[in-house]
Amino acid sequence: MHSPSPHSLVDLPIRHLNRGDLVPCADLCEDRGWPRDEHRWGLLLSAGTGYGIDAPDGKGLAGTCLTMPYGSDLTAVGMLLVAERYARQGLARRLMRYVMEAVGDTPLALYATEQGQPLYEDLGFSPVGRTERIGGRFGAPGSGGSASAVVSPSRAPLTTRPAAADDLQAMVRLDLPVFGTDRTHLLARLPAFSDRLQVAEEHGELVGYAALWPSGHAEVVGPLVARDTATAQALVASLAATTDRPLRTDVYARHKELLGWLAERGLEPLARTTVMTYGIPDLPGDAARRFAPLTVATG
Ligand SMILES: CC(C)(COP(=O)(O)OP(=O)(O)OC[C@H]1O[C@@H](n2cnc3c(N)ncnc32)[C@H](O)[C@@H]1OP(=O)(O)O)[C@@H](O)C(=O)NCCC(=O)NCCS
Repeated sequence: MHSPSPHSLVDLPIRHLNRGDLVPCADLCEDRGWPRDEHRWGLLLSAGTGYGIDAPDGKGLAGTCLTMPYGSDLTAVGMLLVAERYARQGLARRLMRYVMEAVGDTPLALYATEQGQPLYEDLGFSPVGRTERIGGRFGAPGSGGSASAVVSPSRAPLTTRPAAADDLQAMVRLDLPVFGTDRTHLLARLPAFSDRLQVAEEHGELVGYAALWPSGHAEVVGPLVARDTATAQALVASLAATTDRPLRTDVYARHKELLGWLAERGLEPLARTTVMTYGIPDLPGDAARRFAPLTVATG
């Protein structure tokens, strides 16, 4: 069987992905050295819209892309992946053009890998910030040992505890000005998606929340929303204390104090992304209280 020419590749139809596509989506991640992350794909395909191109050789998907809508305020774009054997033949460009047309005038945001950034720049996206992926076993400073929940909160009455069902409304209220647009459809899925969902309180008021969810052999912290760095630290420490697995998180690079604190506890830099927008000059919301996205595919 001969391979299709590049010309016929860019003419391949783009179709909607659904939960029946979880395994081919995971295979594509693996093909690119990413964790298979079927669990994350499950969340993304139920809360967002997945697009895929079936591989002409009949072996799964040649490419994927995902949009996560936040009303008409913002759409996040993620999971742009093209199978290695179909690389550099225009599939990613075609998927992005398709998605940009599908969302119309809605502003876009994404977290670009080094490989993806040239394409996004070419399509008119502008860099507005960075995230640092940091991971490893969380331990006490200098110990290299196991997880510790000991943290010195800046204000004595700060406490953290597992979220209860009736915390959701307060989480959404806290999240709205921080994320800058309503993401109830995602936050409502966090209790089922996460291994642990933790809230921080002071004097009975919710001042932060964070989720811990499984990815490959690690547990990911995200979203991480907190009033200040001390609150973010208390949330991370309390989540770390619930697992023996390595942690991973994508922290917005402006939060250097948190990144330094994580590094002191044994987490090491793994990768970086460039936050890019299209149609708006920056991400909406309050960057000071937005420490980590749920995933770089959703913001
Ligand atoms: C990034 C990725 C999706 C590009 O897919 P692709 O189908 O090969 O890209 P295209 O053929 O449409 O190329 C579009 C442009 O992207 C850029 N590009 C593509 N691959 C690149 C690479 N490996 N390094 C640098 N730039 C690259 C080029 O500017 C290219 O245009 P050109 O071929 O005219 O020079 C693919 O390399 C991939 O799956 N990488 C791993 C996952 C990833 O990082 N995804 C991006 C998440 S933000």
